[in-house]
Order: sequence, then structure tokens, then C-alpha cells
Amino acid sequence: MKNKVTVVGSGNWGSVAAKLIASNTVRLSSFDDEVRMWVFEEKLPSGEKLTDVINRTNENVKYLPGIKLGKNVVADPDVESAVKGANMLVFVSPHQFMEGICKKLVGKIGKDTEGISLVKGMEVKKEGPCMISTLISKTLGINCSVLMGANIANEIALEKFSEATVGYSKNKEAAEKWVQLFGTPYFIVSAVQDVEGVEMCGTLKNIVAIAAGFVDGMEMGNNTKAAIMRIGLKEMIKFSKMLFPSVKDSTFFESCGVADLITTCLGGRNRKVADAYAKNQGKRSFDQLEAELLNGQKLQGVLTAKEVYEVLSDRGWVEQFPLFSTVHAISIGRLPPSAIVELGDSRSANKQVGNSTL
Ligand SMILES: NC(=O)c1ccc[n+]([C@@H]2O[C@H](COP(=O)([O-])OP(=O)(O)OC[C@H]3O[C@@H](n4cnc5c(N)ncnc54)[C@H](O)[C@@H]3O)[C@@H](O)[C@H]2O)c1
Repeated sequence: MKNKVTVVGSGNWGSVAAKLIASNTVRLSSFDDEVRMWVFEEKLPSGEKLTDVINRTNENVKYLPGIKLGKNVVADPDVESAVKGANMLVFVSPHQFMEGICKKLVGKIGKDTEGISLVKGMEVKKEGPCMISTLISKTLGINCSVLMGANIANEIALEKFSEATVGYSKNKEAAEKWVQLFGTPYFIVSAVQDVEGVEMCGTLKNIVAIAAGFVDGMEMGNNTKAAIMRIGLKEMIKFSKMLFPSVKDSTFFESCGVADLITTCLGGRNRKVADAYAKNQGKRSFDQLEAELLNGQKLQGVLTAKEVYEVLSDRGWVEQFPLFSTVHAISIGRLPPSAIVELGDSRSANKQVGNSTL
């Protein structure tokens, strides 16, 4: 039986993922050619539905304009019908929507389905933090790997060379299938047995990118930005290992680690919006700037900084993570953007945040 793939999500990265996958399913005999893509339906200014336009033009005109996805990509606005018959599910939505999406799919997918999450972020619940791959595997009862890397979607859409990392826990065979499904001569994918490490990298680098954006917005220069990235990487490693002792050092040297951190701090959307926030001296909120600058795309770093801060304060770890806590304090307006280089004085930053109602 051929493997059948559905992409659950159709934003900027979701659309590029569908393009990559569709180029391989037509080439590889072990996969059904057709790739379904679930679209969160919306009306375009023309009055047409996004799904209809994608199916007519073969292009996601809102989230990836100018790029053909492949004729074998079929957009579907109904998530239940989109996953019907698929045994490989690719989850790629902003993380805040993932719980709702998973709930809709309970009981709708086959037992032997394999999942992979391209989602960067975590859920924080009363019981503690929950990574998105865990949310998927627990809610749906399926095995879930992750794919993360230095992957700014628009560059991969133009087929510029890059790399990515698949993280898996036990099922190496499934990981190999994902490598086959995503890999192209311009998108080199390798697999490591460290699902938590790979996912933590993809999640935490967005907080560091916000810090890098503050540095850019205040024109503090390259040395300062490099320092912030170094401190950020150390906090990423420390936090990942404190939450998941099994996380491997070597994972931070894969594409999902240091490479993703670099590209996100140079060119990603989190950096861009934080840059604008600092230039406006915090007078315009992140929500406003996201709406103005991202055309419906979602910012992840500010929400992730809040979620990580909740874990830090819950566990008494705030003082050990001055960069993460300062990014959160700045993004909620408790500290000015200039505080990003006052990490030595982190206790005062943390005290202010600690006194606030979050
Ligand atoms: N864009 C990138 O360069 C990139 C690269 C790597 C990873 N990622 C990660 O991929 C994930 C998805 O990002 P993206 O870039 O594909 O999305 P995006 O931010 O470009 O688009 C937002 C998507 O969310 C959908 N949406 C809006 N409201 C919704 C709702 N209420 N319920 C469900 N969906 C809703 C929109 O229709 C759209 O498809 C994120 O976790 C992101 O961090 C993005």
C-alpha cells in the first residue's frame, strides 16, 4: 500500500512544506502522488475563498504568493476530510492553534498513522510544559517525530540550499521515511534520535530572535548581537537539559540548533517585529506590529517567552535565565528594550517581572 500524506496547515512554512513533499510524492513510487493540505479557510479581499484560489491557481496567494505548489497539492478547508485515508500527517500550524486542531482529529485517524511536527513552540499547562509533538502523540495516540532547522520558508520556496533535522524517539524507520519525503538536492535532511532536543531548539531560538531584534532596533551593532546570540544559545542548552536530561549536546550543532539560531536572528519574522518594537521604543504593542508587518502570519517568540517564563517562575529557575526572563519583561512592557544588555543586573529585571501580574 502506498503512503498517503496530508499537510495539516497552510501558512508560509506549511505551503513550502507541501511544495517540498509534493515534489517527492510524484517521484517516489512508495507514496501516493496526491498531497492534501488543510487550509484554515478565509475570504480574500477579492471575495473568493482561499481554498478555491489555491485549487484554481495552484498557489497560496496569501501566505506564499508567486510560488507554484505542485499540481498534486489539493487544498481542503475541512480538517477531518483532509486527513481521511492519510497514514502520514505533517503538522505545521502556529502552535497556539495546535490543541484545537488535535481535538478535532481525535478518533478520525488510523492507528498506524505516523505524525511529524514542524511547529515551533510549547504549551504550558498546570501539570507543566508540554511540547507540541507530545501534545500530538498524546491527544491522537500516534508516534510523532519533529522536523526543525535553519529554514526561513521564503528562501526554501525559491529552492535556495539549506538543511533540516528530523528528531525521532524510537521509530528509526519512520524517521527514514520522513527524510525521504522532505529531502531534495537543495533541502538536505538528516535524522537524530533526540526528539526533545530538536524540538526545544526550534522553540527556544524564537526568544533569542526577539532579543536580537531589540539589539538591531537600537542599532547596538554586530558584537552586541553576537553576544546576545551566544548567551541565548547557552540558555537554550541549559533550559533544554534541565527540562529533558536526555537532550544531547550534539543536537545543538545540527541544523535545528546553531544554524537555525543564526538564520532566525539575522532574517526571521521575530527579529523583524522586535526590531520595530525597539525602534518605536515599546510604544506600539507586539500585537499591533504583528498585524501591520506580517500580513496574517503569526509571531511565535513573544508567546514562547511568556510560556518559558511561566516554567521558570514555577520551578524557581528565573535567576538562572537572565536573557529569557529579560526578553519576556521587555515584551510585556515591564522593561525598556535597552534592558536587553543589562543582563548582569538580571535580578532587578526579574524582580520587576516577578512583581507583575502576568
Ligand atoms: N515561516 C517560516 O519561515 C517557518 C519556518 C520554520 C518553522 N515555522 C513554524 O511553522 C509553524 C507554522 O508557521 P507558518 O509559517 O506555516 O504559518 P504563518 O504564520 O505563515 O500563517 C499563519 C497560519 O495560521 C492560520 N490560522 C489563522 N488563524 C487560525 C486559527 N484560528 N486556527 C487555525 N489556523 C489559523 C492561517 O490561516 C495561516 O495558515 C509555526 O510554528 C512556525 O514557527 C515557520
